[in-house]
Amino acid sequence: MSAQGRKSIFITGAASGMGRATALLFSRRGWYVGAADIDEAGLGTLVQELGSENCFSVKLDVTDKTAFDEALAAFAEKTGGQLDLMYNNAGIGESGWFEDVPYEASMRVVAINLGGVLNGIYASLPYLKRTPNSLLFTTSSSSATYGMPRIAVYAATKHAVKGLTEALSIEFARHNVRVADVLPGLIDTAILRSTPNRSGDAPKPSEEDFYSNAPKKGMFRLMPAESVAECVWGAYQHPTRLHWYVPDEVVWIDRLKGLLPEFVRGRIVKLFPQLAPKE
Ligand code: NAI
Repeated sequence: MSAQGRKSIFITGAASGMGRATALLFSRRGWYVGAADIDEAGLGTLVQELGSENCFSVKLDVTDKTAFDEALAAFAEKTGGQLDLMYNNAGIGESGWFEDVPYEASMRVVAINLGGVLNGIYASLPYLKRTPNSLLFTTSSSSATYGMPRIAVYAATKHAVKGLTEALSIEFARHNVRVADVLPGLIDTAILRSTPNRSGDAPKPSEEDFYSNAPKKGMFRLMPAESVAECVWGAYQHPTRLHWYVPDEVVWIDRLKGLLPEFVRGRIVKLFPQLAPKE
């Protein structure tokens, strides 16, 4: 079934976590949803929940440019060529000391977290340009406020996405396409457990230990995926805001880093006991 005049959002990484929460929230608020993911089973349960008349779903690897272009073209057939919000959200993680992460694994992070976003922008821009008040939105990360050790390549891709957002928010103004991103702190999604520790120096915590040890307060308290979905909603309503933070306090790392990068680096070093000078 087609969008029938409803506003439309296309989401990558829609089968899980914040992509899924965003699909559910926008659908509840009357939008037509395009859901893309590499995880076909996860997409299947999402479609059941949304109702097939309220969404379009496609199995898509965001690194495949041709498939991405085809997916957007097929979605646009359902929406009469309109796209109100493109949400480039799919991403993966890798962790460990830089040299412990195999080269191929690091390059896969770059291919998905940056290459996939670029593919999404090329694929969606023609439809965003045609749609009044459209928004190009991307999931960056709090690791794009200051480059984080042990997820260095991941953090680099998220810095790239943030820079891209800033540049394109200026360029795409001439198309009347708004551009913004979100920098989430710690969100309770599958990626926190699926990201491998390539240094193998910390055993994988049990589900129970994970939740009991997760920070309960401060800017890295564990937040629900729905908090990011609400932020995407807020970003669409807002005429100009560039960066969104979940929770809001994450903005302070960005501000402080701008003024005192060495101070922020010193604070981060203190979080890693392995980096303490040897006695
Ligand atoms: P998640 O693991 O629940 O969801 C990620 C989704 O992306 C999955 O459904 C996965 O199948 C999909 N995906 C992975 N590779 C793909 C590919 N090549 N093509 C298409 N889909 C692919 O994790 P979450 O947290 O919802 O992740 C969403 C975004 O949020 C990611 O970009 C992640 O880097 C970012 N992020 C997550 C944070 C967290 O604490 N959970 C914090 C900051 C950013």
